[in-house]
Amino acid sequence: MKRMLVNSINMLQDAKKGKYAVPHFNINNLEWTKYILEECNSHNIPVILGVSEGACKYMGGYNVVANMVKALIKDLNIQIDVCLHLDHGSTFSSCQQAIDAGFTSVMIDASKYDIEENKRITQEVVDCAHKFGVSVEAEVGHIGGNEDGVSNEIYHATVEDCVSLSQVGIDSIAPALGSVHGLYKGEPNLNFERMKIINDTLNIPLVLHGGTGIPDDDIKRAIACGISKININTELQIAWHDAVLEFVMNNKEIYDPRKVISSGQAAMKKVISDKIKLFFNR
Ligand code: 13P
Repeated sequence: MKRMLVNSINMLQDAKKGKYAVPHFNINNLEWTKYILEECNSHNIPVILGVSEGACKYMGGYNVVANMVKALIKDLNIQIDVCLHLDHGSTFSSCQQAIDAGFTSVMIDASKYDIEENKRITQEVVDCAHKFGVSVEAEVGHIGGNEDGVSNEIYHATVEDCVSLSQVGIDSIAPALGSVHGLYKGEPNLNFERMKIINDTLNIPLVLHGGTGIPDDDIKRAIACGISKININTELQIAWHDAVLEFVMNNKEIYDPRKVISSGQAAMKKVISDKIKLFFNR
């Protein structure tokens, strides 16, 4: 059967009902996309491929990314649901470019503004995205840490702001509740109580950013509190980097880029497989 990209609405609603979380893995190049698709296909689970604005630029642009993903799904005969998602779209224009190129989901991150401005920008994106069947994720509060050179202090989302933002018709929400992008300084301290209240108050799925470095028990607790999508980026980068570094140090005479880049494949696939088992409680 020929597979097409899907938006994230059904996969996240199913996850919310079934009390599991769909993984969002960030992609940076063709190889990463291939490894993620192959591993998720072999586990027969839906997946969200997250692409930051920086990663889109690095790969050549939104059209390159969308066409690469579609072509890999076809040529690798991928049979699972795949959603192509713009991660932390910072403006209406970047969301629009992603939608035009064929992305099936966008995140508009206007969390640096006050809630009224966040709502106004998010509403614009929802109105445009929904015309094309594209799902929309939005953020409230501040997720801490550093991603693609953008750094943030942690600021916890309030229940009132989550309710207010959800009214513009978004399909999922990322309430910042103590998680950070990149490595944690010390132990993560997630606000599970508020997570549960937000989940009980809203009827849209909740998203957890900054999945790297959160202990397994906290991930399970977050899923029990209503988290339906978990974003992982840094952990894949570290696994890939450590394996490639070891390969290069032990094989200084090998210069074939295919051998060098793919020396990180097994380590990345192990992280992907471990996350799938954890998120789907397998
Ligand atoms: P990590 O880099 O901490 O895994 O976070 C990824 C993320 O939240 C992408 O939006």
